[in-house]
Amino acid sequence: MEQTQQKIIDYYNAFYSAEGFSYYPPAFTKAVLKSLCRKAGVAPGTRVLDVGCATGYYSAILASLGYDVTGIDISETGIQKARERYPDIRFEVQDATALPYAKGSFDFVFALGVSVANTRDLGELHRWLEHLMGVLTPGGTLALLGGSTLTGAVSEHSDWFNHTWGEIKGFIPSWATQVRGPWLTHFRLMQMLPPSLSMNGVMTRLMRWVPMGFQRRIVLLLKK
Ligand SMILES: C[S@@+](CC[C@H](N)C(=O)[O-])C[C@H]1O[C@@H](n2cnc3c(N)ncnc32)[C@H](O)[C@@H]1O
Repeated sequence: MEQTQQKIIDYYNAFYSAEGFSYYPPAFTKAVLKSLCRKAGVAPGTRVLDVGCATGYYSAILASLGYDVTGIDISETGIQKARERYPDIRFEVQDATALPYAKGSFDFVFALGVSVANTRDLGELHRWLEHLMGVLTPGGTLALLGGSTLTGAVSEHSDWFNHTWGEIKGFIPSWATQVRGPWLTHFRLMQMLPPSLSMNGVMTRLMRWVPMGFQRRIVLLLKK
């Protein structure tokens, strides 16, 4: 296994053995994810792959919205905790760059803050997005989400790249036939405003001008 990938695994295994992530409360997160799924056009009851699911928080919220969820992560500790916390949900240790699922296995791929997207190599990022598209049913949707201050700098608290707006626009692969976004938004706006207002071009333009240190959410919806 690649040394950097082993480092990621070791880091997250230790992190999930200790405190792990702290999240917004479930009711809040549920409103945010409902808004996102509505914008993505994925109906409850359909099959969702939560890529880089950590200890399963988003998987559990998506399941509570009625989706048939599978959560995967490369961290064994993350998956072990996810299984303990949410025994009714399917969780698997998998490498998101080498998924074993057949084409058509999922209707929606949800990838929030996955370390594989933490790169400035757009070729590498596009190859990964194409791999994720490979497990979708025709007409399925891939949602790529992340955070950025747009400064271009590496985050103070982790090794996360704060991609610039120019870099974020480059996330769109040439093979994508239907692209929505990239939008800049914020979880609070996604909770307070309907999807049509919280994720759109006007909001994106406004979010580009708020102070640079402010963390925005990047949302990109793709179909092939
Ligand atoms: C910043 S965390 C985000 C976790 C989760 N999506 C959330 O928002 O709470 C990144 C996650 O990606 C996982 N990850 C990193 N590389 C991966 C890979 N190649 N395959 C699957 N998961 C990976 C890490 O183990 C970690 O749980």
